[in-house]
Amino acid sequence: MKIGIGNDHVAIEYKKEIWAYIEETYGYEVVNFGTDRPERFNYPIAGEAVANAVVSGAVDKGIVICGTGVGISLAANKVNGIRCVTCSEPYSAQLSRQHNDTNMLAFGARVVGIELAKMIVDAWLSGEYEGGRHQTRIDMIREIEERQCEK
Ligand code: RB5
Repeated sequence: MKIGIGNDHVAIEYKKEIWAYIEETYGYEVVNFGTDRPERFNYPIAGEAVANAVVSGAVDKGIVICGTGVGISLAANKVNGIRCVTCSEPYSAQLSRQHNDTNMLAFGARVVGIELAKMIVDAWLSGEYEGGRHQTRIDMIREIEERQCEK
């Protein structure tokens, strides 16, 4: 399993801690698409880079972090095929995998403490997509993307 990780300047230390946590806890390879420099870094760059890596199959899933998790998730969700959830608690993270087959997770370094963030990551990584009735809705989301491409 390969996880793409991305962040802006607000979330550098957070990214490093989550990166180490995933490697130590799960033994997954983590690929870094975020900034490691303190200068301002526009979050859409990292959101798009991780999203493209997920869609191309270069990584299996993506985790993106900015101040709130909102901006970077909005950018990621502009990439066709991405279903990125912004979470502040583990319940939505797990359900987003089970029901929405999310392939990216976002959270805010200024919103959730690092231990809660690890719980969110655990819930999200352990959630298994259930398919069945949920696939109809996932297909409908894909159809929205296709209609947008036709415009
Ligand atoms: C950067 O100041 C901040 O806007 C960014 O980290 C994020 O919170 C945006 O959604």
